[in-house]
Amino acid sequence: MSRSYHIITYGCQMNVHDSETMAGLLEELGYRKAARPEEADLILLNTCCVRETAEQRILGRLGELMRLKRSNPGLILAVAGCLGQEPGAVERIRRRARGVDIILGTHNLYRLPLLVKEVERLRGSGSAKPVIEVWSTAAGRTEAEDRDPGTDGRRRAVGEDLPVRREPGVRAWVTIMYGCDNFCSYCIVPYVRGRERSRLPEDIRREVASLVGEGYREVVLLGQNVNSYGKDLPPGPGRSFSALLRDLDRTPGLARIRYTTSHPRNFTEDIIEAVAEAEHVCENFHLPAQSGSSRILKAMNRGYTREDYLRLIERIRSRVPEAAFSTDLIVGFPGETDRDFEDTLSLVREVRFDSAFTFAYSPRSGTPAARAEGQVPEAVKKERLARLIQLQTDISLERNRAEVGRTLEVLVEGPAEGRSGWGAGRSRTNKLVLFPVDGDASPDLGCLVGRELLVTIERAAPWSLEGRLHR
Ligand code: SAH
Ligand code: SF4
Ligand code: F3S
Repeated sequence: MSRSYHIITYGCQMNVHDSETMAGLLEELGYRKAARPEEADLILLNTCCVRETAEQRILGRLGELMRLKRSNPGLILAVAGCLGQEPGAVERIRRRARGVDIILGTHNLYRLPLLVKEVERLRGSGSAKPVIEVWSTAAGRTEAEDRDPGTDGRRRAVGEDLPVRREPGVRAWVTIMYGCDNFCSYCIVPYVRGRERSRLPEDIRREVASLVGEGYREVVLLGQNVNSYGKDLPPGPGRSFSALLRDLDRTPGLARIRYTTSHPRNFTEDIIEAVAEAEHVCENFHLPAQSGSSRILKAMNRGYTREDYLRLIERIRSRVPEAAFSTDLIVGFPGETDRDFEDTLSLVREVRFDSAFTFAYSPRSGTPAARAEGQVPEAVKKERLARLIQLQTDISLERNRAEVGRTLEVLVEGPAEGRSGWGAGRSRTNKLVLFPVDGDASPDLGCLVGRELLVTIERAAPWSLEGRLHR
């Protein structure tokens, strides 16, 4: 009888995509997907450690899964992803979940099948020893080897040619680079994901073309800092982010291209030009500001001031008038005064973001900010966060109300969640658009999925728009 797996994913899109790769690897090994953890022979937790809350949630979930394991001793419990890369985390995981079978880091996903086989072999010989493999660089090589300019070395370092098991749909995630070299002073990602490593443009191009062949209509290019794409490769055609965008824009049959995340520091003119000119690249700009105070931005090591950020927004608006903006903001960074926080509020008012992800600063051990003086009390962070969220919700609603009466091009994705008789899709500016599909006038939803259709907006909420589909 074939064995089954269930993957639980935390964290960012990079992790979501890594889970798709690990699903592909498990399927090659003969495992099939189980809908629920209770039904699986192998449960894999793909973890995140960017904030304390993520870590706590994951350790809690592990505790719950241990109960399943007690009632089903044959179950293989595996932990992958960023958490295991954190110093001391392997011990924390093992303390919480004594029966964990596999702990796997971010650099050696492709070793998962070998580790599963090893656990199966150990079981056969009566041993319950966990198999732990957390490497500090890609492919277990030195950093210098990671940066090997040779094609073969590069392709090995980024784990090219691994199988990927994507959910069928309209949108596919495509990693264009791994790691991050920015070392923002609050952030653990460069420590757990390693140095920047770009995939070769020809490999990306081939993957995107084959995704279109499988029926996907939109690709989202992934990297912690996509603007740096290609900087670690020897110079050559297509080896910069703007060149890659222009290149992929020519993929026959591809409707839309998005990317995340871009850093305000090196969002250069040639990227703005490429977005403006490339027909399929969407006009939404996710530019994490983190703070509106130049003093705090400096302490965060972000590499731009409030004024630089505002100038960038202006430059984009003047070249791409339809642009929508989203951002990430942190409140309560060490040393943040009321005055600094007011600067963040005023930045939000000035830019009028379409949406924002907002976070309370969470100290991450090993990062410079965690050791800094002036840690802000939790109660103050909470209060600032609530004020920021309120302001942004009002602005999001105002911006969405301005869409009422306009007709937007919507890529239809499927039925709206929790609203029968309604379909859902996204505008080029990445707004969620809902529209009724029942009634005699509307065709069946099935044949609309994957098409770009016009919707006239009739109502607005802070996080979505509602409208009427043109036939
Ligand atoms: N590479 C992306 C973001 C990765 S993490 C970028 O630079 O934009 C996603 C977001 O989590 C960050 O933008 C930041 O707002 C937030 N974040 C990262 N570390 C954090 C910490 N220690 N505490 C609170 N928020 C944090
Ligand atoms: Fe973290 Fe900064 Fe890198 Fe983003 S750019 S992953 S916030 S270090
Ligand atoms: Fe989390 Fe790792 Fe992404 S720490 S945010 S899953 S890169």
